[in-house]
Amino acid sequence: MTESLPFAVLISGRGSNMLALAGAVRSGEIRGHIVAVISDRADAAGLAAAAGRGLATRVLAPEAGEDRGAYGRRLEQALVAAGAGLVALAGFMRILDGGFARAWEGRLLNIHPSLLPAYRGLHTHRRALEAGERWHGCTVHFVTEELDAGPAVIQGRLAVRPGDDEQSLSARVQRLEHIIYPRAVGWFAAGRLAWRDGAAWLDGRRLREPVIEELP
Ligand code: GRF
Repeated sequence: MTESLPFAVLISGRGSNMLALAGAVRSGEIRGHIVAVISDRADAAGLAAAAGRGLATRVLAPEAGEDRGAYGRRLEQALVAAGAGLVALAGFMRILDGGFARAWEGRLLNIHPSLLPAYRGLHTHRRALEAGERWHGCTVHFVTEELDAGPAVIQGRLAVRPGDDEQSLSARVQRLEHIIYPRAVGWFAAGRLAWRDGAAWLDGRRLREPVIEELP
């Protein structure tokens, strides 16, 4: 495969993962190009950062009374219009409906700040610290209808240090996020990562467990 993969990045906040993906496009790690950075919030800091790098940005805020399905259909239209062949959720804080997940099955990735299946949902660093975990990290996974439950592709793992608090732990996890997300999207763009029979495949091998990247 020699073509450049057109992909969209969905954000709600700072957009540091979006910037890591943009950096990997520039460095050639991802053989692709970002066709749209879409935020559900007009005040997302990542929008200005994306525009500053010359990326096309769009705000798609939910309308009053709009349900999840209707929002998902508008988002779907925007992504199709942008010509996206892959959608990377990067801190997008809106739960997408089943119709959207089905429409993008196998072409929808997310990064989650925990070692899934542990700690789905929010406040993952706090919960991992409270539970006294020795290991923590982040996961890139294909998105399916069930929240944070689709097949994992790659995990960044790190040891929790004595004295870690939510902030220090989240900062180290983010460093790992910025390594593993570009790697996964790069694999997808190169045709190495694929979705088949409800599972993730890497280099023609079904991934029964995610690839592990460790931060020293
Ligand atoms: C990241 O921690 C990611 O794992 C989670 O949301 C956060 C987004 O951060 N899904 P950023 O906007 O990419 O800086």
